[in-house]
Amino acid sequence: MLVRSDLNVPLEDGRVADDTRIRASLPTLQYLLDHDAKEVAVCSHLGRPKGSDPAFSMTPVARRLRELLPDERIDVLENTRFDPGETTNDPEFARRLADDYELFVEDAFGSVHRAHASTVGVAELLPAYAGLLLERELEELGKLLGEVERPFVLVSGGAKVEDKLGVLRNLGGKADVVLVGGKMAEQLRDENPLGFPVELPTDVVAAAAFEEDAETKVVPYHSLPEGCLGLDIGPETRAAFAAEIAKARTIFWNGPMGVFEWPAFAEGTKAVAEAVAAAEAFSVVGGADSNRALNELGLIDEVSWASTGGGAALELLEGKELPGVEVIPE
Ligand code: 3PG
Repeated sequence: MLVRSDLNVPLEDGRVADDTRIRASLPTLQYLLDHDAKEVAVCSHLGRPKGSDPAFSMTPVARRLRELLPDERIDVLENTRFDPGETTNDPEFARRLADDYELFVEDAFGSVHRAHASTVGVAELLPAYAGLLLERELEELGKLLGEVERPFVLVSGGAKVEDKLGVLRNLGGKADVVLVGGKMAEQLRDENPLGFPVELPTDVVAAAAFEEDAETKVVPYHSLPEGCLGLDIGPETRAAFAAEIAKARTIFWNGPMGVFEWPAFAEGTKAVAEAVAAAEAFSVVGGADSNRALNELGLIDEVSWASTGGGAALELLEGKELPGVEVIPE
């Protein structure tokens, strides 16, 4: 069997920095093993490599997966994006991927918004089924698609700005309050092309250089000194965002508020994570980085659903069709 999981996890110094997505992939793999699968090949992309860059090798991911699920029938294939045919959904690459297998299981919820060879191409070549994680994700996130308890607060941050702006544009009407931090907020500083109001930071933690140990100062969001980088939301913004989150009855949070991997810029993301965890709301948190932040704070069990999808969760919320789901027969 060929299983597409989303094992696109953060790496640090060649090690898996957060294994949430690996753990989330295990129930489906275990299910297949328990039902006498002879061989289970797991494939995934990792990062956005340009060609076969060893820095994006699946080796550390495979090692972690084997630690968690030591079964010799499991094989982890190399990064699907090492082949240029992956992102173009090249039929030839899909054929090569599918060739040795009798059945395909789509379990990579975080990647189903990509029409790639390993998410769509192979599903057209083999009998294709949804995995347990994919099924659960659609069920939990689906709760945000119907009538939700209000206020519905959407918190958006993270680095994949271009991906998210378009999605946000279509989501604004659904939420009562949209809080924007992280790199997203920088993009909206001078102009808001979204067509609805968003709450932006009022202050930021700034540094003169993109460095972990850079000297920091809190400056107003709208008058960032020349040459300064805003790398986290400031204390006033943290309090304001936390207050909005506390009032929410439904929350969707995607993307950190700053460079939270570096302690000097982690407070904004921490404040949002704590507020979301404490809120008496149906709370869904999406994306690898937001989940990592929750994990590091020991708060992952305090939210209603920690989704493994970032962009995929946003697109689902937006009401878009997800190609990796559409391709699976009923
Ligand atoms: C994610 O991290 O959101 C998914 O793994 C998809 O990654 P991509 O945005 O590089 O396609």
